[in-house]
Amino acid sequence: MKKILVATVKPFAPQAIKEMKDIADSKGYELVLLEKYQSPEELKQAVQQADALIVRSDKINREILEAAPHLKVIARAGAGYDNIDLDAAREKDMVVMNTPGQNANAVAELVLGMMVYMNRNKFNGTAGTELKGKTLGIHAYGNVGKNVARIAKGFKMDVMAHDPFVSSEIVERDGIKDVEERDDLYEKCQYVSLHIPANPHTVKSIGYDLLKKMPENAVLINTARKEVIDEEGLLRLMEERPDFKYISDIAPDNKDILEEKFPGRVFFTPKKMGAQTAEANINAGKAAVKQIIDFFENGNTTYKVN
Ligand code: 3PG
Repeated sequence: MKKILVATVKPFAPQAIKEMKDIADSKGYELVLLEKYQSPEELKQAVQQADALIVRSDKINREILEAAPHLKVIARAGAGYDNIDLDAAREKDMVVMNTPGQNANAVAELVLGMMVYMNRNKFNGTAGTELKGKTLGIHAYGNVGKNVARIAKGFKMDVMAHDPFVSSEIVERDGIKDVEERDDLYEKCQYVSLHIPANPHTVKSIGYDLLKKMPENAVLINTARKEVIDEEGLLRLMEERPDFKYISDIAPDNKDILEEKFPGRVFFTPKKMGAQTAEANINAGKAAVKQIIDFFENGNTTYKVN
């Protein structure tokens, strides 16, 4: 019987695990759990027996892959796969896949939730501001960006998007203004929500020169990856612009400095929780199990990313 190891430092909701187990059982696969593990050693131990692996943001480097002689497929239950060494996996003929879109609504709801929270001064009882009628720029119009646009339109925000990989027809079909140049999006929008992946082209790409283009009372929302921010540039900008706020679901490395210098102007979730809902866990977890089984049974590699 083939073993699918679910290795998650940040566990799925119990209902998700139950539904994932049911699918695996019904198809004759064994689902093995390694939750809240404390060290890579524990993971190395567990992957020794695994034919397939399901992870979230768990770091899967060459060393882990080398400890997994039977491993054929890794499903990242989520969108971003910057936590997996794709080259090492390719060299070992291991297929890496993601489950795009399955947790997008959860992340998008958090974006708008954090925007309201900051607009209302962290619910401290003082008079805040509203989102209605304000400009929102969506940087990268993928699954999360689309969901953010949908919800923001419900708030009656003026929504625009920039994505060099998505045609303006697709953006405009959703009733969103397409902005061709990235910098124009920042110039036009009081709020910008980041949805770019972390890769060699995007790391540290959001910095001082770009952010200083944003209009008065600017708010940058990051539910993507901390690596895309040039943290020194952000710090410099926040020192110069007392009107600028930064909200993130992935605390920056200079979190302590930002929190100390700019209380009330920054907010960081204690743990990345954008995709941490029962629904997102169920959707992404089940998709991961199904894709793995479809790979073994039919050779389906539709969501392969390496
Ligand atoms: C993703 O890339 O899908 C999100 O960042 C969610 O990550 P998580 O599964 O670690 O919560």
